[in-house]
Amino acid sequence: MSESMKRPQVTLIEGDGIGPEITAATLEAVAAAGGAIDWHPATAGMAAAERHGDPLPAATVESIKQHKVALKGPLGTPIGAGFRSVNVALRQQFDLYANVRPAVTIPGVPSRYTGVDIVMIRENTEDLYAGIEHYVDPRRSAAESIAIITRYGSERIIEYAFQYARRHGRKRVTLVHKANILKLSNGLFLDTGREVAKRYPDIAFDDMIVDATAMKLVITPERFDMIVTMNLFGDILSDLIAGLVGGLGVAPGANIGDGGCAIFEAVHGTAPDIAGRGVANPTAMMLTAAMLLDHVEQGAAASRLRRGLHAALANAETRTGDLGGKLGTADFTKAVIAAMA
Ligand code: NAI
Repeated sequence: MSESMKRPQVTLIEGDGIGPEITAATLEAVAAAGGAIDWHPATAGMAAAERHGDPLPAATVESIKQHKVALKGPLGTPIGAGFRSVNVALRQQFDLYANVRPAVTIPGVPSRYTGVDIVMIRENTEDLYAGIEHYVDPRRSAAESIAIITRYGSERIIEYAFQYARRHGRKRVTLVHKANILKLSNGLFLDTGREVAKRYPDIAFDDMIVDATAMKLVITPERFDMIVTMNLFGDILSDLIAGLVGGLGVAPGANIGDGGCAIFEAVHGTAPDIAGRGVANPTAMMLTAAMLLDHVEQGAAASRLRRGLHAALANAETRTGDLGGKLGTADFTKAVIAAMA
């Protein structure tokens, strides 16, 4: 097999708004870090809707099916009307059941806390987000949304969390729930967690009620190592932990399925207020690319990329405007690349 055939093949969706700017910066930084990837550009979101009349063209789905791994910029979703979220459609189509969101203190990034190092594993396909909602009467005087929690879905996400803990040398998994009130659905998730935990005697396991978790995360975030939880609580708490380390500009994420299938995306959106001005912070997208490099077993390049980012962010002179610095996207990227050495 030739060297080029061994290189990972990855679908690249640059996204809307600031997407093209931060994607270009990220590809430059990945290459400088020694990441050896063949990118396959594809479109989705507003750009695809305008160009092809479809926010998720068949060719894009086909590309992800073929390559199994994608790096995706933020996609615009019309509010209230128009097409449904392409992000949600992709997670469902490829059964990307594990949403992985690390929140790590980066020295220099303005934040209220130090020493935060939490990985949140959120179930991505079930719970209140299964899409079962209706009005209960013709007058629409009441509506109900149904949360579905299955043993299958619970077991695979909790297993994923423990496997992740083992792979990354993590010591504790905390399962977050509301089983004191939602005794059946959340009770099932908790019972499944206790069963799965028995298979991992090397990893500490505890459980915590979601409201108490929210308070403890704010008071003593350094107490937490890994959190595994259901879709709704995970959606809320993963933004909370991003806030503990400096917010959207530095929050990476990944959606992972079985058989190596994964779509990597930063947590933030398209930032229409600053799009096209060359001032967007590419940090979250670059940290997301570092997760992708780990996934395709290019750990050395991932470390080099993180090292460059951490060094550039540690220096007030080389931060982007949203973090109190003066640099735009292109100059920040140069600083990251220079700091890799
Ligand atoms: P947003 O994350 O785009 O922006 C919120 C605020 O954070 C804005 O002031 C923006 O300028 C700032 N910001 C975000 N990322 C930044 C970065 N990298 N550098 C500097 N500043 C940054 O959230 P918003 O405004 O609620 O959503 C805008 C659009 O993005 C909507 O259409 C929404 O549906 C979409 N969206 C897409 C996501 C995705 O594709 N994964 C996730 C969240 C929102």
